[in-house]
Amino acid sequence: MMLYPKRYLITAALPYANGPLHIGHLAGAYLSADIYTRYLKLMGKDAIFICGSDEHGAAITMRAQKEGTTPQKIIDKYHAQFKATFEGMGIDFDYYDRTSSKEHHETAAQFFKELYDRGVFEEKVTEQFYDTEANQFLADRYIMGTCPKCGFQEAYGDQCENCGTTLSPTELKSPKSTLSGGRPELRETRHWFLPLQNYETFLKEWLEEGTLKGKPHHDPDSWKPHVLGQCKSWIDGGLQPRAMTRDLNWGVDVPHEIPGSDGKKLYVWLDAPIGYISATKKWAQQNEEDWKSYWQSEDSALVHFIGKDNIVFHCIIFPALLQAHGDFNLPVNVPANQFMNLEDRKISTSRSWAVWVGEYLEEFPGRADEMRYALSRIMPESRDSEFTWKRFQDFNNNELVNSLGNFIQR
Ligand code: 2FM
Ligand code: ZN
Repeated sequence: MMLYPKRYLITAALPYANGPLHIGHLAGAYLSADIYTRYLKLMGKDAIFICGSDEHGAAITMRAQKEGTTPQKIIDKYHAQFKATFEGMGIDFDYYDRTSSKEHHETAAQFFKELYDRGVFEEKVTEQFYDTEANQFLADRYIMGTCPKCGFQEAYGDQCENCGTTLSPTELKSPKSTLSGGRPELRETRHWFLPLQNYETFLKEWLEEGTLKGKPHHDPDSWKPHVLGQCKSWIDGGLQPRAMTRDLNWGVDVPHEIPGSDGKKLYVWLDAPIGYISATKKWAQQNEEDWKSYWQSEDSALVHFIGKDNIVFHCIIFPALLQAHGDFNLPVNVPANQFMNLEDRKISTSRSWAVWVGEYLEEFPGRADEMRYALSRIMPESRDSEFTWKRFQDFNNNELVNSLGNFIQR
């Protein structure tokens, strides 16, 4: 990390507005980011804490479909809920935005256009599954079929949840569209790709040596080994061109000045991290500050707090995009947490196995700090951890009431 940054820009992963927040979310990113920012502010540092709702991508449209409603209704519901829940838990963002905002659409489209103008993308025609009944191309998650590795019949087009293998939809046996249930056909479509393989040297130097263009940028020893380990295995596995656009009807439009942009949206993992930039702009506007000093000046430190499932996006893809753009700072650290399990099982929204933060706040009004304390005690900073109600009770009764209470009493 640079020795004495003048200011800090702290971000926490933008949560998908497709389901309620659970304690795993808090322990994964928001609570650690909040504690870090509070610490910096207490030390008198110039630090801002930025976040917002991630409102695009298949996560949202699938939820809308499941609930028989529109994506707009889904994001409005969860965005409002997230704001209230974070506030209730004392997660003190300086700005909490949403990626459906007009300013975000403008910022993301402009970022894409700048990359396009700089010749960063490769245009390629590929074959994608198309649902002829629903008349649309299918996002990977909209395709189900049999896993070629383990034979599980309900594997998704991007991953088999049974054996964990990362897949592409064309690898599935007997693919089916989850929209119509029919067998999708392959159709040609044109997209803009980021040639990630060209960024390998830059990424290695930046991640392994902590240098940028030969100059020191940060201290790699201050990064968590599991974060660097995951990056290394991605890079060693060989980086491939990655499509930065999709055929969808929900998301940020590819700018109309670009030929062939009709019906194309930005890839959600391109648009979402740009949300950090748009939210900083809105914060700056509101506070008569200069957003550029946080994103573009060498004496500012950018730190991304995320969960471990987001490492590749924040340590490989987004940095490559920022580097390709050229005007923005790269993170000096990406302190990703691992997962927190609940009573011996993986927390799962789809299986409803979670402690929902909103419900906790309703059932234990005024008790946000007790949960913050418990989660901090078992935060999965370097390995997965486990929350149990028994431990919560023990932390509260033995540590907060007994030890701390006694200490203050004396
Ligand atoms: O995993 C998630 O919940 C994503 N919505 C995180 C996005 S982080 C950033 F890119 F905005
Ligand atoms: Zn499988």
